[in-house]
Amino acid sequence: MKRDINGKTKIIGVIGKNIENSLSPLIHNQMILKHSLHFCYLPFQVAETDLNKAIQGIKALNIRGVNITFPYKEKVVKFLDEVEESARRVGSVNTIVNNKGFLTGYNTDVIGFKRSLQEDVEFVIKKKKAVIFGAGGAARGIIFALLEEGIEEICIFNRTLEKAKKIKQDFSPFFPESSIDVFPLKEENLKNKIERAHILVNTTSLGMPPQIDKTPLPDEKLFQPNLLVYYLIYHPAKTLFLRQAEKSGAKIINGLPMLVYQGIESFYLWTGLKPEGKEALKIIR
Ligand code: ATR
Repeated sequence: MKRDINGKTKIIGVIGKNIENSLSPLIHNQMILKHSLHFCYLPFQVAETDLNKAIQGIKALNIRGVNITFPYKEKVVKFLDEVEESARRVGSVNTIVNNKGFLTGYNTDVIGFKRSLQEDVEFVIKKKKAVIFGAGGAARGIIFALLEEGIEEICIFNRTLEKAKKIKQDFSPFFPESSIDVFPLKEENLKNKIERAHILVNTTSLGMPPQIDKTPLPDEKLFQPNLLVYYLIYHPAKTLFLRQAEKSGAKIINGLPMLVYQGIESFYLWTGLKPEGKEALKIIR
């Protein structure tokens, strides 16, 4: 496998705030090499004040497309020319495609999350109960995926209650069979809700470097063995949150499989080629 960068090479990449530890460049560049495509995937570290300029720069530089990661998945929506129907309903975008200067936003997190549950931990979402920590752009994709697959109950805990309320308000009308409750991220209520839950998903950025020894769960005794505990962060592979969950006997999963599956879908949108899951997972295992 050999890469030729020349005048025909198309640029793709990822825009985020702290992307030094992102594995997306590795995954995408390996997929590019494997399939001998004229593409190159680059990291773009962008400050929030420059986000609009960076998005307009995609057009100016004729970049084929980008992934959008923490903390811009919601913020980027207003800078796009069009947002595909399901991403518009989710309210967050993790993939942008540039078609001759026209930027369209997609959300491949939804399918990436579903696939990680189905293929990596064989978890069936239908009729289950979930507790979600966080109500940002990533949480929106995860909650939408759970609702689409017929989850019975979702309890969203977030530091800023208003953001959780907005998710409930946006999603409830489309999923009348599922209940959505919202709570501030405090200990009261957590015990009771976690005891009832089958899956606990932490979508917060608390635990990302440099805050790797922080967790949004006030007391590790709240974990219980029947839970599937999911943390979207994959660097480090086992954060304090996942280590505590594992110690309690819970089954754990980090964000790596989801990163790969959402990446495959984004790759397809840019290149028209869809690598196999097994092949892409091999890159990071
Ligand atoms: P992303 O697009 O990756 O979801 P985001 O939209 O900035 O990023 O969301 C980050 C989430 O982590 C939010 O739910 C945020 O809580 P707030 O809505 O209250 O901001 C949560 N988060 C970040 N730092 C946190 C902290 N120190 N304690 C608790 N929650 C935190």
